Amino acid sequence: MSALYLYSGWVRTWHWINALLFLVLIFSGASMHFNGAGWLLDFQSAILIHNTAGILLTIGWIGFIVGNLVSDNGRHYRVRLHGFVQRLMTQSIYYGYGIFKNAPHPFHPSAEAKLNTLQQVTYIGVMYVLMPLLILSGWAFLFSVYLPETLLGIGSVWVVAMLHLSIAYFLVLFLLIHLYIITTGETVMTNMRAMLTGWHRDDHQEPEA
Ligand code: HEM
Repeated sequence: MSALYLYSGWVRTWHWINALLFLVLIFSGASMHFNGAGWLLDFQSAILIHNTAGILLTIGWIGFIVGNLVSDNGRHYRVRLHGFVQRLMTQSIYYGYGIFKNAPHPFHPSAEAKLNTLQQVTYIGVMYVLMPLLILSGWAFLFSVYLPETLLGIGSVWVVAMLHLSIAYFLVLFLLIHLYIITTGETVMTNMRAMLTGWHRDDHQEPEA
């Protein structure tokens, strides 16, 4: 068994604040979307909480991008093109089939590469494509009085609202998959422990030759 320090303090701080803000945004966003349902927040409180959480999420996201630029963590987001498709297939087949047959994990985190190729692609899509789109559309929504009346002949507030809502749904889908995938490490708690303590403990033993 080996232990690797893979999640530095700033990554863990960013991650858990981001996760908490995300849950607050989902709840306050749903409260505005389904305004009037009894168990949700009232509209005015929902707006205030959603806007505040959105601003904090933006600051956190900028922190994550800058952190990845100036720290070691960024190298885990650099995709190695050699063998890319093969690694992606192997990982996907494991999640779709091998895992149900108790097949061995095809990937073991190391100091050089803590994320498997599928995680890399997913996290890049989420953090470098969906999150900026969510944030931009959120800010456009906040300052919608400054938007032009129409965009490509459609009411611009409607375009912004639909973009913001669709991306939010994609990110909720990501979160559900994320919550499942993190339980599929060597043990159910392996990944969770790593994100809580920074230390990834790999119980995997190479078979004797
Ligand atoms: C309650 C909600 C959440 C839980 C319990 C959770 C849990 C975890 C765990 C255990 C890991 C480490 C294992 C791994 O690398 O896959 C992780 C990594 C990660 N999570 Fe989450 N997560 C949550 C919400 C989110 C949200 C909302 C986002 C983004 C929108 C997110 C983005 C990430 C990213 C980018 C990483 C890799 C960070 C890095 O090492 O650079 N997570 N998460």
